[in-house]
Amino acid sequence: SSDGSTEKEKTLAMVKPDGVSGNHTDGIKNVILESGFSICREMIVHLSEESVALFYAEHASKSFFPSLVRYMTSGPVLVMVLEKENAIADWRSLIGPTDALKAKVTHPHSIRAMCGLDAEKNCVHGSDSPQSAEREILFFFKEMSSGRVGTKHDEL
Ligand code: PPS
Repeated sequence: SSDGSTEKEKTLAMVKPDGVSGNHTDGIKNVILESGFSICREMIVHLSEESVALFYAEHASKSFFPSLVRYMTSGPVLVMVLEKENAIADWRSLIGPTDALKAKVTHPHSIRAMCGLDAEKNCVHGSDSPQSAEREILFFFKEMSSGRVGTKHDEL
């Protein structure tokens, strides 16, 4: 910034259906705050098939895609915009590897190791780059306000 202070960064975090139904939301939010992030925005939403297909468009050709859509529409998710210095990489490192089963071995203190079940039900999502962070934040906190993403339950 112009005064030379450190730039903060935003990322999109999501507690997926298994995380919400497994009552991991409060614990995860505590980890987020204890790790120095601030939660700028948060919203609980039950995603439609169309919105999951858009959000995960880059995985549309993968064999797991139909299962991913089924899972991600199975219940509400909590989406949050997190902010701090180096938020994108730090949130990814806090959540651990994609496959929660592997995370339990290699990164036992990660959120996915502690709360996730496998490569699909891995409890949380995090943007993987500045480009995806921008896209994913706008996906939820712009389109959603026009009612096109899913069924909005609560603006927290
Ligand atoms: S890839 O192929 O490396 O690009 O995929 P990856 O980044 O590991 O995962 C992308 C998202 O797809 C989910 N995923 C799966 N869902 C269901 N079944 C299987 N086998 C599976 N493998 C990966 C995974 O949870 C990733 O979701 P996000 O929300 O991006 O973490």
